[in-house]
Parts: sequence; C-alpha cells; structure tokens
Amino acid sequence: MRVRGQPMRSIWLESDGRTVGIIDQTRLPHAFETLQLRTLEEAAHVIRSMRVRGAPLIGATAAYGLCLALLEDASDGALERAFTVLRATRPTAVNLLWALNEMRQMLAPLPSSERVAAAWRRAAEICDEDVAINRAIGEHGLKLLEAAWERKGRQGRLDVLTHCNAGWLATVDWGTALAPVYLAHDAGIPVHVWVDETRPRNQGASLTAWELGQHGVPHTVIADNVGGHLMQHGQVDLCIVGTDRTTSRGDVANKIGTYLKALAAKDNGVPFYVALPSPTIDWTLEDGVRDIPIEQRDGRELSEMTGRTASGEIVTVRVTPEDSAVANYGFDVTPARLVTALVTERGVCPASTEGLLSLFPERRAHR
Ligand code: MRU
Repeated sequence: MRVRGQPMRSIWLESDGRTVGIIDQTRLPHAFETLQLRTLEEAAHVIRSMRVRGAPLIGATAAYGLCLALLEDASDGALERAFTVLRATRPTAVNLLWALNEMRQMLAPLPSSERVAAAWRRAAEICDEDVAINRAIGEHGLKLLEAAWERKGRQGRLDVLTHCNAGWLATVDWGTALAPVYLAHDAGIPVHVWVDETRPRNQGASLTAWELGQHGVPHTVIADNVGGHLMQHGQVDLCIVGTDRTTSRGDVANKIGTYLKALAAKDNGVPFYVALPSPTIDWTLEDGVRDIPIEQRDGRELSEMTGRTASGEIVTVRVTPEDSAVANYGFDVTPARLVTALVTERGVCPASTEGLLSLFPERRAHR
C-alpha cells in the first residue's frame, strides 16, 4: 500500500540485511515513525507492546524475531529459547504459533552454520506469502462487494462496517477484511466504510481510519455502540472483519466487540463476513467460545486514553476514577452460526467444518 504516495509494507528487512524495520503503530495516526529491530528482545517487545499488531503481522514479526535471535546464537538451545520467548508475547493470534512452527520445523534439522541464512529466507517467504494470500482474499471478497452493489441497484454508495483494524497495517500488505474494500474502491464502486473506533486501544479510530485515508477510501469513524442503530436503519450493506483465530468449525475470535456486531447483523439481516488467511485457522480446536484463550490486557488500556492536543502534543489522560476496577478483555468469539461466510485465499465458504474442508480438503486426512 502507499504512505504519502510511497509504496510500503508494514515490515521489511533493512539494506544491511540484519535489521528489521517496522512502523510504530502506537504513534499513529498522530505521527508516522519507524523502528529498527536488532535483537530477539526488541522483536518480542514490539509485539507485546502492540507497536506491531494484527494476527498476520504478529506472525511475520515473530519469524523475523527468530532470525534476530539466531544472529547472536544459532544453537539448538537458542532456537528453543527464542521460540518460547516469542510464543509468550500474545496468546490469541494463532498466526504467531503458525509462523514459529514453520520456522522451527525448517531450521531444527539444519546444521547451526546454515540456520541464519535459511531463517532470513523463510521469514521473507512468510511475508511474501502473506501478501499473496491477502491479495487473493481481496479478489474473492471483491465478488461479495460487487454482488452487494448489484443488489443495491448500483444506487448511492456501498456501506461497509468493519471493526478493529484488519487492513494492511495488520498484515504485511493489503490486509484481510480491507483488501476487498481497497479493490472495490479501485474498481470504481463507491464504497464507504463505517469504522468502529474499537475501544480500548482504538485500532479503528487510529489505524483503520488512517490507512483508509492514505488510500483515499471514504470512511466515517463511529463509536463502538453505533453499529446496531445503523443496521436497524438500513445504513449498513454488509459487515466484514478479520480474525485472530478461527476454529475448524468456523467460530471466530476477533477484537472484543465483534460478537455484538455479529448479533446486530443477524437481527437485521445484514451479511456478516469474516476474512482470513489460512494460517489463522486453528485446526486443533472446534469450540471457540470454550477453547480459545482470550488475552486479558493491562487495565490502563481502558482507564487511560492517548491523543493529540490542539498544540500538537501527544498526551495520555485518565478517564476512570482512580479507585474503580477495570477489566480489559482483548478479544471475543463469534460463533459460526452468526457468520454469513468466511473469505479465504482459496475462496468463500460457509462458516462450518464442511465449508472449511471444501476449501482445504487436504485437512480431511488429519481428522
Ligand atoms: O489486538 P490486535 O490489534 O492485534 O487485534 C487485531 C485484530 O483483532 C484484527 O482484526 C485481527 O488480527 C485480524 S487482522 C488481519
């Protein structure tokens, strides 16, 4: 995608071949700043502190984190230690474990002298694969947006609601939920996006709004509680969100608040789509509500808010009483029955075991 007109990805290898560049997403939308990662600890820290976030980007950063660890020590012990450190950074997004497993499976049999070069190669491939996957999700999702636009008689504008940030900032490029939106916009469909602010960390208000703006896609930021009202009044043609982990039967973990939007969509007959790359599918789990571990994060994400003052200073202020307890759940699970369809790189399918297996038949052998 483009930042101020310049093409860029959300993560890259610097020209020295041993430093990883990222965008510091905690500074957006107020400041565009990049960071250079040189060690395993720095990679783990940027994931933990959400300087990078979004399931696919967390996976890509973890893959590069292993490369940085091996630069210092390429022994079996160091590989295992780095795996453990990175694995513990964020519990819900399954792409993290997927990327770490991909790297370890490939690296473990190699002599330590060959591991560093092989690790850089595989991390770069994981990034390239993510870009290709998201582009394919975009093309499949575009057909759904085109169909919705046709159903609307090609009148007015196409109103899409999204939650959190599942755009290019959450992936290496394109995004998952936003890839079809970008393609629809580029194809001339007058798409407009309702952007849920996504409390407590405001990924919608800060990140989705920023990246849609960079691409020139019309959008409006709304408080998280507005979507149901808009749907009741026919102002949402479809919802599309990303996911951090989707079970084999199509239950979907995504940013807290997604479930409520899916309920409102069901009640109002609004299609609710979930876009996901295959590394987000956790084939080992079926019942997402019971079995997906939900991250509980630092309460200050809720009790405090950060923004820019009129004078341009970025400040953090407290919004709750000093002595009130807060509970900060990061994600929730939307049961498959509320999901109209899943959009993957292989196509669109019902959110069900059979639906997913129809697109990923090779998984039948594992059942
Ligand atoms: O806590 P975050 O910001 O990492 O959560 C991100 C989301 O919930 C996204 O919607 C999800 O990762 C899908 S991203 C393509």
